[in-house]
Amino acid sequence: MNPIHISVHVFVLCFVWAPCLGKEFKPESSSELQTALNSANPGDTIQLQAMDYHGDFLMQRSGDKIHPIKILGTENDDGSSGTGLVGNTTTLFLKGDHYIVRTLNITGIEEGLYLEGNHNSAESLAFYGLKQAILVEGTHNVFGSISLSDIEDGIFVRGSDNKFRDISMNNATSGIIIESGDRTRLHNMAIHDSEGKILSLVLNEGTCCGRVSNTIYDGLVEIKGNGYNFRSTVANGAINIVGCNNNFGRSVFGRTFFTKECENKMVTSNIYHFPQDKPTTLQTL
Ligand SMILES: *[C@@H]1O[C@H](CO)[C@@H](O)[C@H](O)[C@H]1NC(C)=O
Ligand SMILES: *[C@@H]1O[C@H](CO)[C@@H](O)[C@H](O)[C@H]1NC(C)=O
Ligand SMILES: *[C@@H]1O[C@H](CO)[C@@H](O)[C@H](O)[C@H]1NC(C)=O
Repeated sequence: MNPIHISVHVFVLCFVWAPCLGKEFKPESSSELQTALNSANPGDTIQLQAMDYHGDFLMQRSGDKIHPIKILGTENDDGSSGTGLVGNTTTLFLKGDHYIVRTLNITGIEEGLYLEGNHNSAESLAFYGLKQAILVEGTHNVFGSISLSDIEDGIFVRGSDNKFRDISMNNATSGIIIESGDRTRLHNMAIHDSEGKILSLVLNEGTCCGRVSNTIYDGLVEIKGNGYNFRSTVANGAINIVGCNNNFGRSVFGRTFFTKECENKMVTSNIYHFPQDKPTTLQTL
């Protein structure tokens, strides 16, 4: 092959294989990070250093399906993040679509991550010391390997088709609230209640058709939505089922309350089900 052929091949490869085109930003200060967020194009990578970045960071640009924008922290040897974002109001506000956000510790005072965009992936994130850890208003976002601790509110969802897997939460006042949106998927979650009183999971009225599997909830679970599929769910506290057409398989509940005269199926036999006459309420909420 002569040199002209080789360069033609490299050109074609890079044209097809996006990362060749992507630019890499390596911000070394908070202002450089905000500048990178303001200028990243589809396929670009923002590689953060092992340090804390102080400020409220806003990303309004978007990647695309084939060329997501990557915002990556530095990984420690033990797999935890060496990169921290420390904010005052909304630590990381992502307004656009098609990001891959990975390996970050997010802390601050008010809100940790506000995700308004769609088709984003958030992976290996640790949240602590916040009033609200995660607020999702977009659709088709995927969250994996997220730990949350010492926060007031955990995850609040207002969009459809979002997926959460491998989530652990400790010491929070509320766990996961699906306020609106359909087809939310929750898989492999452990919501632990260190203070004894937590609103652990709420599937709000009007929401529908999600899937909840391999999950453990301490505290109160409220199922007001319809058409959810539960599999291998353990609710140690109380579960109030006031929605309809929900299916429960291989699930164990401490106490259960039904109000409406509609169908909720308990599919497998190993369900411990102790109906109450009144819904369980938490005094503190
Ligand atoms: C955050 O708050 C601290 C203390 O009030 C202040 O010094 C700092 O400038 C604020 N940072 C931002 C990005 O607003
Ligand atoms: C990030 O969080 C993890 C787990 O909470 C912790 O082990 C690690 O030291 C933190 N890193 C930074 C930079 O704060
Ligand atoms: C729980 O988190 C709060 C902050 O939300 C903190 O003040 C408190 O010390 C934590 N409790 C435990 C037992 O870690």
